[in-house]
Amino acid sequence: MTQESDSRPAVLFVCLGNICRSPMAEGAFRSAARKAGLEAKVDSVGTASYHIGESPDPRAIRIARENGVDIAGLFGRQIQRDDFYVSSHIFALDKANLQGIRAHEPRGGTAHVALLNDAVDGLAGRSIEDPYHGDEDDFRRVWEEVNRAAGALVDRFLAEGSDAHFGPPPQ
Ligand code: 4NP
Repeated sequence: MTQESDSRPAVLFVCLGNICRSPMAEGAFRSAARKAGLEAKVDSVGTASYHIGESPDPRAIRIARENGVDIAGLFGRQIQRDDFYVSSHIFALDKANLQGIRAHEPRGGTAHVALLNDAVDGLAGRSIEDPYHGDEDDFRRVWEEVNRAAGALVDRFLAEGSDAHFGPPPQ
């Protein structure tokens, strides 16, 4: 069974360069949502401008492909004002980028902003570290982490729709 269209989440994953972690998260979430019958919009961006227009890192493409997910067609882009209005949820891959997102956040932005691991029991507040200067094992570790979070997100969205809240309770 799929959800009502008005509760369809629009999810944006955010890292620094948008070539390693956030494209992997986008691919893992899109795949998990499709398998679960969750209708969702998915995108990813970076807080930095270094890799605008570039394909994901070849190591990220390879590890995703090993896991049956094709992210080769994605292109890097930088977070922009509209993202805070068209997204229902914006997930930072780490705490530094959570701060970066907050720095870009326009007054009146409607997206719910949280750390990705806030969706995972026992991992709230924990960053998914940058693998860019690491090796393939670091990319495999990132895949495991984003895939676990993607599964948790799908479960929460299926249960609660696009009103799902992640992180500390609203004040
Ligand atoms: P990402 O990894 O934020 O997971 O895409 C990085 C990619 C590139 C750089 C840093 C992190 N860089 O400094 O170019």
